Amino acid sequence: MSDKPQAPPTAYPASELEPQNQEGGKGLDSKMTPSANWTQLEYWDDEGKAPYLKEYEGRGLLKDKAVIITGGDSGIGRAVAVLMAREGADVTFVYLPEEEEDAQWTKAAIEKAGRQAQPLALDVTKEENCKKIIDAHMSKFGKLSVLVNNAAMQEMCEDISNIDLAVTEKTFRTNILAMFAMAKYAVPHMKRGSSILNSSSVAAYMSNPTLLDYASTKGSIVTFTRGLAQQLAPKGIRVNSVAPGIIWTPLQPATKGNPSEAMSALGVAQAPLQRPGMPVEVATAYVHLASPLGSYCTGETIHVTGGLEMQG
Ligand SMILES: NC(=O)c1ccc[n+]([C@@H]2O[C@H](COP(=O)([O-])OP(=O)(O)OC[C@H]3O[C@@H](n4cnc5c(N)ncnc54)[C@H](O)[C@@H]3O)[C@@H](O)[C@H]2O)c1
Repeated sequence: MSDKPQAPPTAYPASELEPQNQEGGKGLDSKMTPSANWTQLEYWDDEGKAPYLKEYEGRGLLKDKAVIITGGDSGIGRAVAVLMAREGADVTFVYLPEEEEDAQWTKAAIEKAGRQAQPLALDVTKEENCKKIIDAHMSKFGKLSVLVNNAAMQEMCEDISNIDLAVTEKTFRTNILAMFAMAKYAVPHMKRGSSILNSSSVAAYMSNPTLLDYASTKGSIVTFTRGLAQQLAPKGIRVNSVAPGIIWTPLQPATKGNPSEAMSALGVAQAPLQRPGMPVEVATAYVHLASPLGSYCTGETIHVTGGLEMQG
């Protein structure tokens, strides 16, 4: 008998998760084993015995809108890109150049949904690149309906006495300062009815002793979201955030110091729902907040954690 915790029945991969390590790389969805799920929702038969998957079908919630997603090549950002395309939006998405392979997959999935994709390999830690992203998006699509600030990095450090402040600074530049820069150049183009979505984390609320800098940026993102929401409410621009729990994305195996074995039980031993979330399950919250379904939400954070925070 293996000591590995077993997940309850689910149509998503959970008990099948394999040890893996992408440490030192930026993290690629193409290397995840098993593959994550970006587009299929889990349904159950009436007996509660047979879970099955069905493709997400759009219903025009974002018809003819134009969105920008940072970190849109893989993981949660990829799922948001494809679901928003299925809801009728054209998508500019941003990623690091070393993730071109994932970006091409996402571009093809957006186009398969019948919408246009504009992939941009640009580093959001540079303010001039954030301006370039907005300018490139406006020249291609002529409007900006939704900005999804989702790009992030994390590197583990177990002891504050050993913390590398250059890494801490990079983490803040990537995760939160880039949100300021993206919003700075985006808002002048946004009209009443448009919205901004920021990716926070369960770490904003529970923190994380080995990811102090990352968790601190995620807490800042909640505060940034609430303040910007108040600033932009008079213009009719809503600002919200999503706080994911433990999700099956390349950020996990790419995290420095994350033992590869930990991947094989990721989320199963930690979350009350006893499995990691799939990117698609988080992306639905972004669709809700960006679309008319979320018209009375601003300054909010939707928590998608499999119940994790109840233990915090
Ligand atoms: N996976 C989880 O368990 C989890 C949990 C809580 C929150 N989140 C948040 O979800 C968001 C998406 O992460 P993910 O888990 O889908 O991982 P991911 O690795 O698939 O996505 C991270 C993305 O950020 C991009 N990125 C990183 N640095 C960048 C830079 N300097 N310039 C441009 N792009 C850059 C990468 O290209 C990548 O696409 C992040 O904000 C992350 O903090 C993830």
